[in-house]
Amino acid sequence: MDIAFLENAELAGLKANWETISADQQALIASLVAEGQSNLFSNWDDAGTNDDAKAAFVDSLVKINGNYPGGLIGYIHNARKLLAESKTGANPFEGLSPEQPDKVDLTTFTADFEKYEAIGAQKFDKVGVVLVAGGLGERLGYNGIKVDIAVEVLEETTYLKHYADNLLAMQARSESKRPVPFIIMVSQDTGPKTIQSLENNNYFGLQKDKVHILQQELVPAIADNDGALALKDTYELILKPHGHGDIHMLLHTSGVAAKLAGEGIEYFMFIQDTNGPSFNTLPAAVGVSVEKDYDFNSLAIRRKAGEAVGGLARLVGGGKEFTLNVEYNQLDPLLRATINPEGDVADETGFSPFPGNCNTLVIKTASYVKILEASQGIIAEFVNPKYTDETKTAFKKPTRLETMMQDLPKLFGESEKVGVTIFDRMWSFSPNKNNVADAAAKVASGGPADASATAENDFYAAGRARLEAAGMTVTTADEIKILGVPFTAGPKVILRPSFAMTLDEGRGKVSGGSISGESTLIIDGSDISLDQVELSGTSALVVKACEGAKVTVKGKFENEGFVLVELSEAERAPESDVEEYIKIRGYRFENKGAAVFEFNEPGEYTVEA
Ligand code: UTP
Repeated sequence: MDIAFLENAELAGLKANWETISADQQALIASLVAEGQSNLFSNWDDAGTNDDAKAAFVDSLVKINGNYPGGLIGYIHNARKLLAESKTGANPFEGLSPEQPDKVDLTTFTADFEKYEAIGAQKFDKVGVVLVAGGLGERLGYNGIKVDIAVEVLEETTYLKHYADNLLAMQARSESKRPVPFIIMVSQDTGPKTIQSLENNNYFGLQKDKVHILQQELVPAIADNDGALALKDTYELILKPHGHGDIHMLLHTSGVAAKLAGEGIEYFMFIQDTNGPSFNTLPAAVGVSVEKDYDFNSLAIRRKAGEAVGGLARLVGGGKEFTLNVEYNQLDPLLRATINPEGDVADETGFSPFPGNCNTLVIKTASYVKILEASQGIIAEFVNPKYTDETKTAFKKPTRLETMMQDLPKLFGESEKVGVTIFDRMWSFSPNKNNVADAAAKVASGGPADASATAENDFYAAGRARLEAAGMTVTTADEIKILGVPFTAGPKVILRPSFAMTLDEGRGKVSGGSISGESTLIIDGSDISLDQVELSGTSALVVKACEGAKVTVKGKFENEGFVLVELSEAERAPESDVEEYIKIRGYRFENKGAAVFEFNEPGEYTVEA
């Protein structure tokens, strides 16, 4: 190794310590210096001072070098290229014009919807579910991990339990009874608490070896257009999250994608940490992927013009075409420059012509594994530095390369087929992202709240929709506002995945009946049927049955049920001992006498009011 660089006066400290550094580490340092990173080593103390900090620093460089495909040098090269493009203001969609993507509209429960559900349900043991849960959740500001938040507070089911329940229900419905693989991407911030939550709850009944935890690593921050890595202090890099696109790299480097493909998993469904409705869409979305032979199926909603979700478009030009998510801040300029001088506006349907990306993805594993091998799973990184002025020569603060999981199709060739499946918003996309004050402000300006209360609201609304599709008469209570966020107080319907995963299954178990007002119905069990059940006012009925318990429920149930109580200011205050997941929605439910029936022994039972 040529170590002439150590003669540089600025590197005198490094030279003084050189012999204490292993040969591999020396090689890495030499390569970094050769890449113009001597700033990382220019202020080193003499041997004997801060030696532990030096060792830890070099260890961290080695670790980061190993985590990133292409190593630190690859990262610096990628950064320089992207920063140069950012500086010249290169239009990422130059020469491309947006058109409608190939899409299937499942916004209503039509015969087609059920056809796709039936196809997808046949594949329950061929699907792996990938949860990206490494995000900090800064907008929500919750003091724990987001997957530990309750999606509903009648029974306080956490997101993680809700997802696990769905995987178990898929397994129970498949012929092979094979456990559904569950891949969870965590980060340094979310990893320990996610594992703790799984351990504390015995993996929510999942088989531990079918749960794959992949930890994404932070990447170094970049100080300038030359790709100089930024230091927090002499012996510590500034590190930042690399975005949810890391899931592709991790599924590749861990070998998990290839392994599961080899075991017969045909599709991965990618979901986010707090999107409760994801599993409502799974059967039909997988069905669409199968029927249309999509390699990549983006689930979408009807997007309001100007809404802060990406628009899905087919971009055509120069003999090429790609179907991609165009981030909302790029959509308006793209439309103005191409097909519509008014930009991101609604068409005659009242919505943007481009479906809104829910970031729930169904990807065919065979094509996925091929793409991962070719790309090492590094997908379309981007950089978004905040410059100090229009010369774009300096940044306000260090930046970093980022990736988004929905950008995978940027790596696709002509043979990969990308499509979009559009669902009703309540049924498919109701994330819990915003704290209540920000949510109220969004509602006031006409946007969706995407908060705890609206996520819970949509959870019940999906239950109501299932009952209605099964033939029950459903009358919804008026909408109220709690702390400026809309909430429909009832009927609150929870049909656990054990009860029904498709509309058809629900129809087979519900016969007539009616539900209205602020009443509550909670059903958990695979062999429960509802025969002319009636609930109104605040009445509540809870029926739970273990495997092998066949329960028929009949008649009109009347009781005081669950009553919604808005939290007082004192209860919402930081020092109150009300659970944080209750505080962040501003209400709780009080059980004033719900009718509860639980069957823990196999047998045949009838419950009559
Ligand atoms: P979001 O942008 O909604 O979540 O990411 P966030 O980053 O947690 O929230 P803010 O922006 O700080 O408020 C969408 C999904 O991607 C995951 C999140 O956990 C969420 O499920 N994500 C995000 C990761 O897994 N890793 C990341 O580096 C970023």
